[in-house]
Amino acid sequence: MSSLLEVKGLEASYGQSKVLNGLDFNLEQGGVTTILGANGAGKTTTLRAISGMVSLKGSIKLAGQELAGTRAADITRCGVAHVPEGRGTFVRLSAQENLTLGAYTRNDKAGIAEDMERVYSYFPILKQRRNQQAGTLSGGEAQMLAVGRALMLRPRLLLLDEPSFGLAPLIVAELFEILRRINAEEGVSMLLVEQNASLALDLADHAYLLETGSIVLSGTADSILENETVRRSYLGY
Ligand SMILES: Nc1ncnc2c1ncn2[C@@H]1O[C@H](COP(=O)(O)OP(=O)(O)O)[C@@H](O)[C@H]1O
Ligand SMILES: [Mg+2]
Repeated sequence: MSSLLEVKGLEASYGQSKVLNGLDFNLEQGGVTTILGANGAGKTTTLRAISGMVSLKGSIKLAGQELAGTRAADITRCGVAHVPEGRGTFVRLSAQENLTLGAYTRNDKAGIAEDMERVYSYFPILKQRRNQQAGTLSGGEAQMLAVGRALMLRPRLLLLDEPSFGLAPLIVAELFEILRRINAEEGVSMLLVEQNASLALDLADHAYLLETGSIVLSGTADSILENETVRRSYLGY
């Protein structure tokens, strides 16, 4: 398989403090890669770097095209959709208005309407809730809306920042099953950041372990699952 995303020597800082110390990682076309790591390791910063939201050094190539130095809005136009930590939906707008906003870079009306129906087929509850203010949705519904909104971009790459955070286990299982289908049926590549390692390794094909801004381990999800340190520190068995 060829690489969709190639990250080399990625560094990011907030003021004087460097939080990413030169990361190298790849994501295969059509693949799901996960970045695991404890709170504060730099997972969110890595995703924010890819979507152009923090100043950085190094190279981030999407299908060979350099994204470093590109404005966030233009990175979105390249097909990178970010489902941020805390979901980032517009709480005053309805679910459907949030989905419509997800397609703001597009002007193919028929395609947008088609994709709205596709999102509703993945998340039928959102269709029921389409006229409801996003701020009144349950945690699980709000996370589904955030994923649905990202899909409205028709992304090549979906960046997911702790989608399981704060959700009940049954809802998480449902959400991850839908992510699996979206990857399989739409071929959307995913970069998934999670503290819930067993969940992430179950969905992903490749994994990287991030510790205080450096990658300390990488491999197939299966090999990471077998790793003694990962088992002890992140899987708890
Ligand atoms: N806006 C910010 N300003 C200053 N420091 C930040 C900011 N955001 C994150 N950090 C720091 O950068 C480090 C990495 O944070 P983050 O990428 O959010 O980690 P993770 O998502 O893995 O929990 C942490 O030490 C955090 O305190
Ligand atoms: Mg984070």
